[in-house]
Amino acid sequence: MITVTQAHPNIALVKYWGKAPGPGNVPATPSLSITLDTLSTTTEVEDAARDTFVLDGALVADRKVEDCLARLRKRWDIPPLAIRSANNFPTAAGLASSASGFAALITAVDAHCALNMTAEERSDHARQASGSAARSVFGGFVALQGPHWHGETVLDAHEWPLRVVIAIAETERKAVSSSEGMRRSADTSPYYPAWIDTTRNDFVAALPLVRARDFAGLAELSESSCLKMHGLMLSSRPGLLYWNAATMTCMHRIRRMRLDGLPVFFTIDAGPQVKAVCLPEAEQTVVEALSSLEGVQRVLTAGIGQGARLLDSGGKP
Ligand code: PMV
Repeated sequence: MITVTQAHPNIALVKYWGKAPGPGNVPATPSLSITLDTLSTTTEVEDAARDTFVLDGALVADRKVEDCLARLRKRWDIPPLAIRSANNFPTAAGLASSASGFAALITAVDAHCALNMTAEERSDHARQASGSAARSVFGGFVALQGPHWHGETVLDAHEWPLRVVIAIAETERKAVSSSEGMRRSADTSPYYPAWIDTTRNDFVAALPLVRARDFAGLAELSESSCLKMHGLMLSSRPGLLYWNAATMTCMHRIRRMRLDGLPVFFTIDAGPQVKAVCLPEAEQTVVEALSSLEGVQRVLTAGIGQGARLLDSGGKP
């Protein structure tokens, strides 16, 4: 029997960058994200003679996947598994492929081996592999906060159907992984304590803005969280510079469109891609504007999507 699942990347509107000391891959601060719909990871699992992991058609040895299976096997009797995972978007280039990847993987192993985990338990296991993966288990607007540190939906996807226009500024894998980058920022940036102190307040302030569908308020807060995270990254030693020239061009263009009255804001993660979050009526203008900029290789669009879920063996939900 083959079990097939699908999960989507998410992008944080209040960012997570830094881990709490101790085990469990617990974030140092809460975060808030939106799960996307058109970008996806599809994962198949079946019994095998030994564990194998194939990512986008290539057999790979992935330490995080091995550790994730080892954690599950501490609690459950899980046979050797052949795992095949495929992304319909660039892997490890700041588009949260680890988030959708681990959300899809945990959901697949749970269903395949009939572990009967709750969504909260899947989110908890996904978080231990990749912090942001905890959020991709859920759909819509998702909060990740203590003391439990599993994701929870704040608004469902249909309750505020924002659009996201993604400008692909580079398709290479990123130079410094987020785990390594977070360690570096915590160890070396003089801004790290201020980041930790202020991010909790940003998270608390963002929740009512989302519930009230206050786009202007969320735009201001979310851009500020993004720029503050990149300020932290830049102030680490050696500095973490995830942007390229096209990233910067997109940011200026998006700022200009908002000043001109268009409901759009940007957010950027550990890679050069720019995600422009907008109201539906602004989407076409944003697509045209970003597509025409120098250095933008292509533009993808997405809406707000569902959490990780089981597909039937024909690949349908
Ligand atoms: O959980 P990770 O290791 O993929 O780190 C996520 C870090 C950012 O994407 C930059 C921010 C976030 O909250 O998603």
